[in-house]
Amino acid sequence: MGKALNEKGQVFRNGTAWEVFSDLLMESKPSGVFVITDENTHKHCLHYLLKRIDVEIVPEIITILEGEIHKNISTSLKVWEALSEKGADRNSLIINLGGGVVTDLGGFVASTFKRGISFINIPTSLLAMVDASIGGKNGVDLGPLKNQIGVINLPEMVILDTEFLNTLPPEHITSGLAEMLKHGIIHGKEYWERIKNIDVSKKPEFEALIWDSIEIKKEIVAKDPLEKNLRKTLNYGHTLGHAIESYFLEAPDKKTLLHGEAVAAGIVLATYISMETYGLPNESLLDISKTMFKYFPKQTFSKRDIEAIIKLLVFDKKNRNGQVLFVLLEDIGKHRTDCIVSNDLIYRAFHYYKNF
Ligand code: GLY
Repeated sequence: MGKALNEKGQVFRNGTAWEVFSDLLMESKPSGVFVITDENTHKHCLHYLLKRIDVEIVPEIITILEGEIHKNISTSLKVWEALSEKGADRNSLIINLGGGVVTDLGGFVASTFKRGISFINIPTSLLAMVDASIGGKNGVDLGPLKNQIGVINLPEMVILDTEFLNTLPPEHITSGLAEMLKHGIIHGKEYWERIKNIDVSKKPEFEALIWDSIEIKKEIVAKDPLEKNLRKTLNYGHTLGHAIESYFLEAPDKKTLLHGEAVAAGIVLATYISMETYGLPNESLLDISKTMFKYFPKQTFSKRDIEAIIKLLVFDKKNRNGQVLFVLLEDIGKHRTDCIVSNDLIYRAFHYYKNF
């Protein structure tokens, strides 16, 4: 595909976004357009997108099964095969229309097909809008282990249209809030004070906060695109959060958690650990814990669950030389990376979580 109109990875919102999208299609003249959807976005979002593709090419639609459980190599294989059968070439364009599963997997498939073809992200979930679709992390899970296989490669552009949020069930909106709250915690007290009382029913305010959240993420990614240091802070709450999510995905007696639900628990745990390790003030711990429990239900962890979750920490992508490394806080907005945490302290954090 020819040079994109704009610097790669830019985010365009609402009305302007569709104009830029149209210009990109006209100017780059892709040999084929392939839209990746899942079952839900095929049903609820595809018609909205198709109305906005005004080039002569009739897009091919490739639909994957819905849910994190399908974010894996076997789904990727099916998409690579479909692209090949439908004649995609290096001048083709992939459009990822969906939540984090579609943008992660679609970006990975595009980045590896014929050594990489162009793709655009059109996130339809709050989580994908404020996190997954931004910053070029693409990949799939390895068994239950999150995002173990992947590449960092920016989309041509990200189209942000908050109209898609109307297609989401409420728990998926809440799931995305976890990442917005995380942005508040790592960014600083002023933004945290605004975001912690977010009211999703007040549309203009909610949309302004979504945009601010994206700006925070973009700023961090721009400073450290390859996650050498600062970008690690975006993993706040994710070390334990990912392990909890993986564990719940496979444990027969557990309900699969949405990403945000697992991250919300991970944030409370990491904040307790921050209090014990770096003296994060008690009032900040209380404030963050109360906020998380306001939006997210408490999960139950038995001793056996905690042991299994701790075992999963060895697969965290931030680890070095076999050591599990956490992102922690001295206070809201004051982060520390590469922190070593003992298992005893993790147990105490789960104790705090249970008794809050
Ligand atoms: N989701 C964390 C990052 O993009 O770095």
